[in-house]
Amino acid sequence: MEVKIEKLDYEGRGLAHINGKVIFVKKALPEEIVDIKIEKDQKKHSVAAVNEFIIKRNDRVLSFCPYSKKCGGCTFDIVSYENSLKWKKEILKDLFSKNNILINEFEIVPSRPVLGYRNKVNLHVKNSQVGYYEEETHHFIPIQTCALLNPAIDDLIKDFDLYSFKDGDLTIRTNEQQELILHIESEKEPKIKESLIEKYKIVGICWNKKVVYGKKSLTEKRDSIEYQIPITSFFQINPYISEIIASDVFSFLKKEDTIFDLYSGVGFFSLRLSQYASKVIGIEADLQAVIAAKKNALKNNINNVSFHVGKVEDILEKIPISSKKVVVDPPRSGLHKKVIKTFLQEEIETITYISCNPITLVRDLNLLKEKYKITFFRAYDMFSYTKHVECVCVLNRQ
Ligand SMILES: C[S@@+](CC[C@H](N)C(=O)[O-])C[C@H]1O[C@@H](n2cnc3c(N)ncnc32)[C@H](O)[C@@H]1O
Repeated sequence: MEVKIEKLDYEGRGLAHINGKVIFVKKALPEEIVDIKIEKDQKKHSVAAVNEFIIKRNDRVLSFCPYSKKCGGCTFDIVSYENSLKWKKEILKDLFSKNNILINEFEIVPSRPVLGYRNKVNLHVKNSQVGYYEEETHHFIPIQTCALLNPAIDDLIKDFDLYSFKDGDLTIRTNEQQELILHIESEKEPKIKESLIEKYKIVGICWNKKVVYGKKSLTEKRDSIEYQIPITSFFQINPYISEIIASDVFSFLKKEDTIFDLYSGVGFFSLRLSQYASKVIGIEADLQAVIAAKKNALKNNINNVSFHVGKVEDILEKIPISSKKVVVDPPRSGLHKKVIKTFLQEEIETITYISCNPITLVRDLNLLKEKYKITFFRAYDMFSYTKHVECVCVLNRQ
C-alpha cells in the first residue's frame, strides 16, 4: 500500500490517510511517498512501518544507531540534529494551536552534547543479553551499545557478558565523576566480578532493592548542592539541560514567603529554591526520594525546606497551599484533577509548570486557562533524537 505522508503526529510518526482512516507510519517524514506494511490495525487508526521508499526526502541522514530500524527509541535519528529540533518545534506549535493555547514564539534549547547525554538507563535482560523493548510490540531487542547513553554506562553495557544473571531488569545510573550504581531485579542473586567493579568505578549494586555491594545512592553535585540519589528514584537525566531549566525556573523568583515544590523527587528544585524563600515545602510520592531529600537538606545545611511523602492530590487536602508561588514537575501523566481543582480555587500568583509530556501539559493548560494566563513558554531538548521534549510554562493568575 502506497501512502503520502502529510505531516508528523505528536509522537513524531508520519501521518497519512487510507480511505479516510489515519495511518501512523514509523520513521517516515512529511512529503515522502512510501509503501507500508501495517503492524497494528485498530478501529480508528493503524500503525505501519515503511516497506519501501517511493519518494524519499533528500534531507534524510543515515542513523548513528545499528538498531535504528527496530528499537524505535530514537524517532529523529533519520534527520540532522538541527532538523530534529525543527520538527519537534513544528509538532509543539501544531499541538498548541490545535488546542487553542496561545504561546509566545519560542526556541527549543539544544542539548549539549547531543549524544551520550543520558545519565540513567533501564534495560531488560534476556538470556544474559541486555536490551530494550521495541516500541509498540514490546519485542526484546538485544543491544551492545546505545548512543544516547553516557559513555560510562555504554562501556559497561559492552562488557555485559561478564555478569552472571540470565533474566531480569537492570538499571544503571552514573554521575559527573563517571561513577556507576546498578540495580538488578532477578530471581537469582547475580555475581559481579571484582575486576568489573574496579574497571568501571561501580560504587554500588542493589539486587531486588537490597544493597549487595557498596552504596545504594549515587552523589551528584549541581551548582553548590550535593544530591544523594537512590538508584530507584527519579533524577533529571540530562545534566546540561536540567541546569538550564533550573536557572529559568529560578529567574522568576524574588524573595518569596513560601514556595511549594510539587513532585519534588530528591529535592532537585526544592533545595535550591530555599535561597529564594523563607520556607519551601516539597511533596513527593516516592518514600526513598523523600528520605534522600531530607538527608540532602541536612547535608547541605539547608533548614528552611520540609518534605512530605504522599501523592500531591492527597497531601494538598491535608496541607492547604498557603503560597503565592508553586513549582510543579509532574510525571508524564500530568496533574491530577484534584490538583487542578485546588489551583483553580486557591489564589496562587504564579505556577511554574515543568512538563515532560506536552500532551498532558496542553490538557492541563486548557483546564487552568479560565484563571491563569501563560506568561512564559520555552522548550528544551532534554531527550535528544527521541520523540520527547521538555517544556516550562509559567502561569500567572488573571
Ligand atoms: C518528573 S519527576 C520530577 C522530580 C523532581 N522535581 C526533580 O526534578 O528531580 C516526577 C516525580 O513525581 C513523583 N510522583 C509521581 N506521581 C506522584 C504523585 N501523584 N504525587 C507526588 N509525587 C508523584 C515521582 O516519584 C517523581 O519523583
